[in-house]
Amino acid sequence: MQAISVGLLGLGTVGSGVVRIIENHQDKLMHQVGCPIKVKKILVQDVDKERSVKVDPSLLTVNPADIMEDPEIEVVIEVMGGIEDTREHLLQALRSKKNIVTANKDLMAVHGSELLTVANENGCDLFFEASVAGGIPILRSLVDGLASDRITKMMGIVNGTTNYILTKMSQEGLAYDSVLKEAQQLGYAEANPASDVEGLDAARKMAIMASLGFSMKIDLDDVKFKGITAVTEEDLQYGKQLGYTMKLLGIAVREGNKVEVCVEPALLPSSHPLASVNNEYNAVYVYGEAVGETMFYGPGAGSLPTATAVVSDLVGVVKNMRLGVNGSSFITPQFEKQLKDDGE
Ligand code: NDP
Ligand code: HSE
Repeated sequence: MQAISVGLLGLGTVGSGVVRIIENHQDKLMHQVGCPIKVKKILVQDVDKERSVKVDPSLLTVNPADIMEDPEIEVVIEVMGGIEDTREHLLQALRSKKNIVTANKDLMAVHGSELLTVANENGCDLFFEASVAGGIPILRSLVDGLASDRITKMMGIVNGTTNYILTKMSQEGLAYDSVLKEAQQLGYAEANPASDVEGLDAARKMAIMASLGFSMKIDLDDVKFKGITAVTEEDLQYGKQLGYTMKLLGIAVREGNKVEVCVEPALLPSSHPLASVNNEYNAVYVYGEAVGETMFYGPGAGSLPTATAVVSDLVGVVKNMRLGVNGSSFITPQFEKQLKDDGE
């Protein structure tokens, strides 16, 4: 059977994981979708850069048109980051009837609604599981697994970098700056780590998660957030002595049509399940009226965990291609309500 051709935008931490999984799990992928999957072109900034993954140099390009204008490429995987230029690339891809998988929460938190509308209009899928909580399949769980329930609360640790920093500062007494550097070297932090430590990355994820969980369009502006830049080693040690652990928590609560979403450092009793989520791991507690309490746990950042979510989305897209139902799954824009219209 003819291979599915994929265009990859970005070959950094996540992109190299995507290449590895597509190569190393080809049997499993073949079993899932019934045909080989091949990466046909990869957009990068610098084709001569040394890379952690080996790829045929002829696959690399600095020209987006090599992907967007190639009719053989049916799926574009965006793992390069950025907002405005990336939005343009993805709009062009959707208008050329290419399905999209993205890990980009910065983009989805701001332009997700527009991109989903354009995807829908063009009969394309736009999947973004990796944009929230890395390797945890939380978005699918909210949209599919808990489809029948009314979710009223979500609370969790959704930024791996800050959790890594707080864990190492609290448990090993390491200094903030050196742990942040380590998190950058491990590929957990954003290109600009200010978004991690100032809480913006978690706020973006909470906006996406709350929109899907509450079936309501929640903008980034609706999320109040605060990061960990003011947290000191003394705060952590003092909390510890009193039996508390500091975590950067995202909280989203719905009462009727009123929704509140925020991100802030919080002292949790050390016996609380979220208090034992350490390093780059994330965990999300979801409360549904019928199901009650559920909890999702796993690696929230890093190359292979994030790439697992990306390639699983790719499998979903290809399955939909086989069924001829692209553009009709995940969230549909007509399902949305505006928080400002109804909740405030
Ligand atoms: P990296 O900085 O490691 O990689 C970015 C890649 O994109 C690089 O290969 C870079 O090229 C390429 N790139 C960047 N800008 C451009 C551009 N303008 N034109 C062409 N190529 C470009 O980022 P990550 O892999 O860490 O993150 C990628 C995305 O995934 C981001 O949206 C991030 O928020 C998201 N994400 C990251 C996670 C993680 O754990 N790292 C987890 C979940 C989501 P070159 O290599 O030549 O410089
Ligand atoms: N910088 C992000 C984090 C990557 O640390 O959680 C995963 O989204």
